[in-house]
Amino acid sequence: MERGRGDQTALIYDSPVTSVIRKFSYRTLRDLVARCAGGLIREGVRKGDRVVIYMPMIPETVIAMLACARIGAIHSVVFGGFAARELAARIRDAQPRMIISASCGIEITRVIPYKPLLDEAIQLAETGPLRCVIYQRHQLLASLVEGRDISWDQLMDNDQPASCVPCKATDPLYILYTSGTTGVPKGVVRDNGGHLVALKWSMPHIYGMKPGEIFWAASDVGWVVGHSYIVYAPLAYGCTTILYEGKSVGTPDPGAFWRVIAEHGVHVLFTAPTAFRAIKREDPDGMHIKKYDLSKFRMLFLAGERCDPDTLLWAEKRLNVPVVDHWWQTETGWAIGANTAGLGLLPIKPGSCTKPVPGYDVRILDDHGEELPPSQIGNIVIRLPLPPGCLTTLWNNERDFSITYLAEYPGYYLTGDAGFIDNDGYLWIMGRIDDIINTAGHRLSTGAMEEVLASHQDVAECAVTGVADEVKGEIPIGFVVLKTGVIRDPSGIEQELIRLVRERIGPIASFKIAIVVRRLPKTRSGKILRGTMKKIADGTEYRVPATIDDPTILDEIKESLATKGYPKTTR
Ligand code: COA
Ligand code: AMP
Repeated sequence: MERGRGDQTALIYDSPVTSVIRKFSYRTLRDLVARCAGGLIREGVRKGDRVVIYMPMIPETVIAMLACARIGAIHSVVFGGFAARELAARIRDAQPRMIISASCGIEITRVIPYKPLLDEAIQLAETGPLRCVIYQRHQLLASLVEGRDISWDQLMDNDQPASCVPCKATDPLYILYTSGTTGVPKGVVRDNGGHLVALKWSMPHIYGMKPGEIFWAASDVGWVVGHSYIVYAPLAYGCTTILYEGKSVGTPDPGAFWRVIAEHGVHVLFTAPTAFRAIKREDPDGMHIKKYDLSKFRMLFLAGERCDPDTLLWAEKRLNVPVVDHWWQTETGWAIGANTAGLGLLPIKPGSCTKPVPGYDVRILDDHGEELPPSQIGNIVIRLPLPPGCLTTLWNNERDFSITYLAEYPGYYLTGDAGFIDNDGYLWIMGRIDDIINTAGHRLSTGAMEEVLASHQDVAECAVTGVADEVKGEIPIGFVVLKTGVIRDPSGIEQELIRLVRERIGPIASFKIAIVVRRLPKTRSGKILRGTMKKIADGTEYRVPATIDDPTILDEIKESLATKGYPKTTR
């Protein structure tokens, strides 16, 4: 702003679900952030305190995040699609001084009350005294708890805007929880200095942006993409960022993205392949694209999950712009592998995220830690040190940080992904090596879902695996074995299990298929053959493992899956 950007639009809030468009100049945004920061200080928040932000995609979310950053408080944004228990787990771990939330979120036409979830989460978390700030949306007003809650307007009602509080480059800026292999989320800690250096560098070099241009990350501020590319990177680089409260389809139609691009003159869009698969399904010939002037639009970036070549080629053909698949994780905060627009685009190989980005020394190791030759699939690791911007630790959990990422191959960071580097040095990400699945670009732990299923009183054993889904890439499917003596109707239990996962983890888990089976297929040593069940559900070829204790159980699994319409296709 001090370099003359005060009147430039910093943030455009575009909300098809409320029919509102609001623009904020850098000056207005700075003033609101400073006022909010003043309110935080008045309410007792200080440098190093945690502030949990459980909000929908509204400007106040961004203001709250930046206000924390301004005074050195550590924000921890929790995605709105998580249920009370997940929120509680994050509150318990972060021990915030304050929680900022809103009365409701809006999912296309459904109003989702946030306040009951928040109240339940606070009760479950059993933390110390807290101040809650609630942004009241007129679609649904929340009742406030006296002595604990204040409204957003009360927070902002002060004439003492806060100045920036100096921080060390290595002080934590935020904690962002992500799925691990168990039900306990991992709090990725990001620092201040390295983070801004990396993100600012990425804007021109990876995304080919210039200050003053319009960048749109169609994600959610609850995810890392939202942190990095809705909030910090575009604003640090002097771009205009778009905060979009809508979906790629249904708000109101599959032309939603093209409307936003045309209306605001977007230069570069970043989203997840799943958003494009949803558009492709509803508008396969791209008829909606033709209705809009996309002349300013020059590139599309996709990340968050594996991008199938069909989707990439469809987007490229219909939009007539380069489409870049790039690979990263919550832990890294920015791309590990990408086609770097600002350094000169390399030929695109659909299915590959192109090459490692400068700063990342990517290697492929076998299970013994030996480096593999080109084109052989192995564990993808990054040789230490990690570049700026990557996680510095896990909140409250230095031990797990070491065990999860650093202990397996000394001298390397374990990404958790499997893949290979081809003879041209291109990187191919083929899938996870752990129990994490990717549903609609969201990272989910099958282990966490298994913990929920196992808590049902009638369940003796269970296994959750991901199956291929046309739009969401992968969705979870749960197999359960009932306790001896349970004689209830299995379909009733299946419905209860679906409800339970929705209640405990949240709708975002997209857990819609539970199947009661007589037994789970296992090796003789008792390991559940989740991979084989996945292959049966996907209709891909599978070998009966030599170590299976009873091969006939696979036929039973096949029959049970058939009753639910799986496999959808045979491949
Ligand atoms: N608050 C409450 N509920 C939410 C929510 C939120 N913030 N976000 C999603 N949900 C709910 C949805 O309403 C849906 O509920 P339902 O089971 O009752 O229908 C459920 O969680 C699953 O949501 P989602 O997986 O998003 O499916 P969808 O059918 O609503 O939308 C897509 C499908 C493909 C359009 C959508 O997933 C999409 O655009 N994804 C982009 C992914 C993305 O931004 N990834 C971030 C990394 S780049
Ligand atoms: P998240 O931390 O939610 O961003 O999820 C990170 C995980 O998503 C990675 O470890 C990969 O498994 C997967 N992922 C992200 N981007 C890509 C991509 N471009 N190609 C393949 N997998 C991806």
